[in-house]
Parts: sequence; C-alpha cells; structure tokens
Amino acid sequence: MLHKNLSVNDNGHLAIAGFDTVELAKKYKTPLYVLDTDSVYESCVKYKTLISKYFAEGSKPLFASKALSCTEIYRIAEKAGIGIDVVSGGEIYTAKKAGFPLKNAYFHGNNKTDADIAFALDCGVGCFVVDNTEEINALQAEAERRGISVRVMLRVSPGIDPHTHKAVVTGSVDSKFGIAIETGQALEAIKLISGCKNLLLEGLHCHIGSQIFEYDPFAEAAAVLIRFVSEVKAKLRISVNALNLGGGFGVRYTDEDPEFDYEAVLSKISASIKKSCAECGVEEPKIYFEPGRSIVAAAGLTLYTVGSFKTIKGYKSYVSIDGGMPDNPRYALYQSKYTCLIANKAGEEKSVCATVAGRCCESGDLIQEDVKLQHCERGDILAVLVTGAYNYSMASNYNRLPRPAMVAVGREGDRVIIKRESYEDLVRNDI
Ligand code: LLP
Repeated sequence: MLHKNLSVNDNGHLAIAGFDTVELAKKYKTPLYVLDTDSVYESCVKYKTLISKYFAEGSKPLFASKALSCTEIYRIAEKAGIGIDVVSGGEIYTAKKAGFPLKNAYFHGNNKTDADIAFALDCGVGCFVVDNTEEINALQAEAERRGISVRVMLRVSPGIDPHTHKAVVTGSVDSKFGIAIETGQALEAIKLISGCKNLLLEGLHCHIGSQIFEYDPFAEAAAVLIRFVSEVKAKLRISVNALNLGGGFGVRYTDEDPEFDYEAVLSKISASIKKSCAECGVEEPKIYFEPGRSIVAAAGLTLYTVGSFKTIKGYKSYVSIDGGMPDNPRYALYQSKYTCLIANKAGEEKSVCATVAGRCCESGDLIQEDVKLQHCERGDILAVLVTGAYNYSMASNYNRLPRPAMVAVGREGDRVIIKRESYEDLVRNDI
C-alpha cells in the first residue's frame, strides 16, 4: 500500500498500524481522524538521528506544529526530544498545556502582535523568528522592559522558487514573509538586531515552500544563506552560527507521487552545505529543519460514512460522505490529490470512478474528483489516506458542522486524543 503502516486485513478491511478502520469507525463514529502515533514518534526520532548524523553539532529538527497542533502531538515531540515551531498564541498555549518545554520552541509569524510577543515571553518561548524591523523594535522594547535577553533568528527570503503549488511557495523575494537578502534589507536588519542590547542573534531562517521532492531547492537556499553569512561576517564582523532551513519535504499522497528518501536528501543537502561553506570560507553552521507534513501526514487518515452513490446519467457519479471541506479543505483550496478507498471493501477491485463530495451547501465542497473507488453504497466506510497534516489543523465549523474526533492508534491501543465537538461546543461562545 501507499505507506508501510497501511494494510488490508483478513476481513478485507483497511487497517492502519494493524487497527481495523471499520471497527474504529463503528466504535468512535464518523467522520473520524485516525492518527498512528507510533509512526509520528518514529518520524521525529528519524529526523533527529539523521540530522545529527549529517550536520554540525547542535543541528536539530523542530516539528512545524501548524501541520497538526494538539496536546498529544507536543507530548510526542517532547518524548522524542525534538523542538517545535509555533506560529500563534494558540499553538503556544496548546504546547504549554501539554507540558512541552517552551525553551525549545521557535516562534514564527509575519505579524506577531504586541499581545503575542508578551504572551510568548510570559510562557518562556526560547527563540523568536523575527520577520520585520518593526517586530525587532517591538521585541527589543518588551525584552528591555522585562530586563531579559531574547534569542532571535532573522527570517530572510532567499529568492528561491521550488517547483510546488504557488499557494505554498514562501521563499521568493516578493513574499509576505521575511526580509530580502537581494535588496540589502536583510543586512540592515542584522545591523539593527546587533544594536539591540536585549536581543541575541541565534541565526538565520528561511522556508522556501512545501511538498518539495527535490533536494536542490534546499541546497540552493542554503548556499544563498551561506553567502550571506560570509557577507555579514565581512561587512559587520558578526558571525552567524545557525541556519534554519524551514520545512517542506514532500509526502506521498497517491501512487503517482515519488517515494521520498529522507536520508538520501538530507545527506545531499549536507554535502552541498559543506561545499558552500568551504567556498565561502565560513565555518559549518548548525542546521535546523522544520518538518511538519512529513512527520504527521502519512500517520493519519480520515474515515467517513457514505450517504449515497449517485450517478447522473451521461455525466458522472458522486459519492456523498458525512464530512467534507470543513474537516479537509485541501482539495477546495489547492486541488490536492488524495487516495480514497472503501475501507470495508479494501480487498476488492476499484471498479467505479466517482467524485467524493462533502455535505456542505457548496458545490466546491469536494474531497476528490473522478477517483477510482470500490463500488459503494449508503453505510460503507470511505477512507481518505494521508490526512495527518493540514486537515485537523485547517478544519472549520462551516455550516455549523462539529469538528470530528481524533483517535490515536499504536502500542497503547486505540484512544481518543481529541474529542468530537458537540452541538453545545458550537454555541459555547455565542451570546
Ligand atoms: N516552517 C515554516 C516557517 C513554515 O511556514 C512551514 C509551512 C513549515 C515549516 C512546514 O512545512 P511542511 O514541512 O509541513 O511542508 N496548508 C498547506 C501547507 C502550508 C505550509 C505553510 N508553512 C497545505 O495544506 O498544503
């Protein structure tokens, strides 16, 4: 199957980490997010091991928790001994609730409000990835007021264009994120930080995009940063010792996507960094990566109950399910490809072609168009694979649909890690 945690069991049912998905749907109801937490943990450890194998001492992975933020995920990150990337007060609060040591958190965002800055400092967030000069000044003022020193990384845009969906490209010069190197503004920002007596420059950050399968965009971005490190050293006599290359490693959603060999990619990036450092005469910096999708996507799947299979004569067929764009907006937003199958008939041939439609009052509420599926009817369980990233974290209550529960499966059995929202939850804040 698509990933090694998926299989078809003796009943002909889809299983994840050995757990029968049809049984899970029966026990916990649908729609249901299922997360193989052992595989999340293993991915964290894999990144940690490979990064320390291929990069300078002190190099590390930070889980980009925008891909999936809930208390359980921060517990896993802590157990695996990796850091996290957080982008909001909500993510910080969730990590804090989980008991995650926030000194290992890196706070991102192109518009941290004064309240965000204060809250992050109250919570002891370890490092701010600063995005613009106004943020630098605001952070300096708040740190000074508190009489503390704060570590910062400067987010720069390296001007790299990876081959991926335009909505998830973030490293080009014309971007809402970071400060451009090319225009000389990044150098000015470093000068500004060095003059802030309460800010300590930990390094530079860039994130070029998401769902990238090649190693060379990362290597190119690193090369641009390393040239900038040598310019900073030459012009400002400041040595930059850490580079955070962001996230973005690709994940296999369908059979058409390539297999991604993380070790091969990381070792090639490492070789290229060594070469760039030698060429520029700079010492090899610590390297951080911020994988999000590649840690959680394949660990998750979503289960729905089929409500109807409708064929429009001469046109096409629609399978309607009891969820849709509120729990998975990625097709509506990016036309993202997914693998779908009928979990209780997983052993059977895929004999029909249908569009999987959600239950919202909106024709764009589709999960996938014209996909191969087993023949299905009301009551069958439809599984959408590889939904661990950017599904729950992007979910909404559109049409007043309660968000699904999330169930963890793994060595500790099956258990709810996020409760299903109730109707009462939906009106909790209405006055
Ligand atoms: N670091 C930074 C600063 C980021 O902005 C992101 C993703 C990551 C790390 C993690 O990237 P990953 O390893 O997950 O590719 N909602 C979109 C993805 C947006 C990604 C935004 N930033 C989607 O559903 O495809």
